[in-house]
Order: sequence, then C-alpha cells, then structure tokens
Amino acid sequence: MSVQNSFQNKLAPVLTIDGPSGAGKGTITQLIAKKLGWSLLDSGALYRLTALSASRQEVSLEDEDGLALVAAGLDVIFQPSGFGEPVKVLLAGEDVTLELRTEVAGNNASKVAPFPKVRAALLQRQRDFQQLPGLVADGRDMGTVVFPEAQTKIFMTASAEERADRRYKQLKAKGLDVKIDDLLVEIQERDDRDMNRATAPLKPAADALMLDTTGLSIEQVLDQVLSYVGRT
Ligand code: DC
Repeated sequence: MSVQNSFQNKLAPVLTIDGPSGAGKGTITQLIAKKLGWSLLDSGALYRLTALSASRQEVSLEDEDGLALVAAGLDVIFQPSGFGEPVKVLLAGEDVTLELRTEVAGNNASKVAPFPKVRAALLQRQRDFQQLPGLVADGRDMGTVVFPEAQTKIFMTASAEERADRRYKQLKAKGLDVKIDDLLVEIQERDDRDMNRATAPLKPAADALMLDTTGLSIEQVLDQVLSYVGRT
C-alpha cells in the first residue's frame, strides 16, 4: 500500500458494531453499509475461514502456530451480493458462503479465536478494510482492538433467549431440524468462551454506545444506529 493510500485510509470514518452472537449485528451492518455507501467488514468470517481452512488442511484446532500460519495465508475474496444475501465468500476460489454460516463453523471459529497468534495474524488484514468513504466493522473487538480510534462505537446486545429464538427461526426457515434448547445452550457456551478469553475478550469499549435490541424491530435498531452516526 502506498504512503498516500494509507494516509487516505486513516481519514476514512469507521463505525464499529461489537456484541455477542445473534444480537443482530450482521443484518444491521449490511443495512447500514448499504445506506451509507460504506464498505463492510465481517470479521467473524475471518475466524470462521481460519477454522474451516485449518480443518481442510488437517491442522488441529488446538495448534496455535499452525492456525496462525493458516490465518496469515488465507486466500479469500469477499464478493458483495444482492441485498439480504450474505456476502459471497471464496476460499481459494471455492464458494464457501453457506458452509461458513453453519453452527459447526461458528463453534469452530470461537475455538480458534482465543489464540493470540491467530488474532495477530488477522489484524492487518482487518485494518486494510478501512477505505473511503467509510467502513462498518462487525465483530467482538472492533472498537477495543482493531479500530480503537473509530468515530462511532456500538455494543449491541439482546437477551440469550431472544438470540436463540431468532436463530431458531432462521434455521427453521432454511428447513433445518433444530431444537431451541440446544441453540440456547450453544449460544451461552459461545458467549462464555468469547467473554472469558484472555486476548481481546468480548466487552464494550470504554467509549461504546450500548444498544439492547431485545424486543426491537430491525427498523427500530437501524434508526437508533443511524442516529448514533448522526445520519438521521
Ligand atoms: O460473528 P461470528 O458469529 O461470525 O463470529 C464467529 C466467532 O468468531 C465468534 O464466536 C467469536 C469469533 N470472533 C472474534 O473472536 N472476534 C471477532 N472480531 C469476530 C468473531
């Protein structure tokens, strides 16, 4: 990257949206990015990709050094798709969009995410998404670690029961046979791993605005976020 480009990137505003799984960050991030014409960083996808790529290369999900090499060498392309569709993800040219969204991929991501070397290997790749006219970054440590100087930081939550219920409806709509109690346990276990790890744990930045989406519609959340960004 040229000196001029990296200077321009620093000028690009960043909105960070952190919070636990299922709080609605992904949907809101997509809507906000579209509304503002900003680019989007789905940082969770990078952890999901690291776990998926490791499994394919037969690297153990407990081998920190091996995982860090996988993370540093990820051959990934994010292709924006139609509204409401997830961003298309190509891993070494193969479309892994659907595989990345499975519960297994999410759980495996949360197993590789605690390793400091994995997080370090992904850091610059995430910062490179900061481009004009702006960036909306979705994750767990966007406001605390990756973009500590972001102009607007939001920490989005919802009760574990509501998050399990939303996930249950999404999976049922896809025709999958799931039990809401199992989803609730998985969500609670993942929250626990994300919040209690030593490196970059899930927690609000000191200057984050808190947004509890329990009982709110997507439109209500969107309006609230836009008001935080000063764009309503
Ligand atoms: O947002 P997601 O569900 O796609 O994230 C999958 C896992 O990746 C999540 O359990 C924790 C981890 N993660 C992280 O540690 N840091 C991020 N910035 C994003 C995700």
